[in-house]
Amino acid sequence: MGLSRLIFVGAILINLWVLAIGTQPRRPINVPFQKNYVPTWAADHIRYINGGNTVDLVLDKTTGTGFQSKDEYLFGHFSMRMKLVGGDSAGVVTAFYLSSQNNEHDEIDYEFLGNRTGQPYILQTNVFTGGKGDREQRHYLWFDPTKGYHDYAVLWNMKQIAFYVDNVCIRVFKNQGDIGVRFPFNQPMRLYSSLWNADDWATRGGREKTNWAGAPFIASYTSFHIDGCKASTPQEIKVCKTTGLKWWDQPAFADLDANEYKRLKWVRSKWTIYNYCTDKTRYPQVPPECRRNKDI
Ligand SMILES: *[C@@H]1O[C@H](CO)[C@@H](O)[C@H](O)[C@H]1NC(C)=O
Repeated sequence: MGLSRLIFVGAILINLWVLAIGTQPRRPINVPFQKNYVPTWAADHIRYINGGNTVDLVLDKTTGTGFQSKDEYLFGHFSMRMKLVGGDSAGVVTAFYLSSQNNEHDEIDYEFLGNRTGQPYILQTNVFTGGKGDREQRHYLWFDPTKGYHDYAVLWNMKQIAFYVDNVCIRVFKNQGDIGVRFPFNQPMRLYSSLWNADDWATRGGREKTNWAGAPFIASYTSFHIDGCKASTPQEIKVCKTTGLKWWDQPAFADLDANEYKRLKWVRSKWTIYNYCTDKTRYPQVPPECRRNKDI
């Protein structure tokens, strides 16, 4: 078989494979905490269960805690399963985010804002590009996030950043570099998670204070899946940016499919309580990235 023939057959195989898996991101793989993560601060407030397959973060009056990925990545699919602090969790915030560490940093955020017993959590998401954020969206969830583990994921490639909750896309930030909107594409990010007291702002704008009688507060994590392009050196960054060979680089993942947009619409109509794109007081001019965005 000639080389061009081989390449042709290879391309067909890749296409078949993409068809077979559809446009859903690849299924997360359960791995223990230690494979991908290390504590960032207050390591004594992290409890390891079942060899690190499950990890509890503990917040008490002295401190919260957090962890971060060992490696930095440029593009990929990242997820974890989390069970949030239950009961009276007002003032308590749990976060899961990707961030580059520099002046003009990029960041992809999930923040879970606790509430009084029986009152709904808010999931706040944000995207920072080149140090600029102010792109908040807020959602209620269609389940009680304190009763069981749910999957929170980020798919990040050259074309889009998609946020998934239990495989439902709740937000997409498309690469609109062509109209001058910065998109995270050249700064590797680490993953972080933390649990801390934020009663100065989190619940009803800071009016609800943390009830320490309920401490310690515990957020539980499992399935520390990372499928990313490791990028620590300039050479690796170049490879992640240009080869386009990973599954998330394939055309099927360049945009959401019709079904995903349908579910996103459902999220927008039933569960979204705030979207900066439609906040006329804050942005009399619709932000450029929102103008031709199907996600509104
Ligand atoms: C907490 O519950 C109140 C009352 O239902 C609600 O207005 C608010 O959005 C909830 N979440 C937060 C984080 O304040």
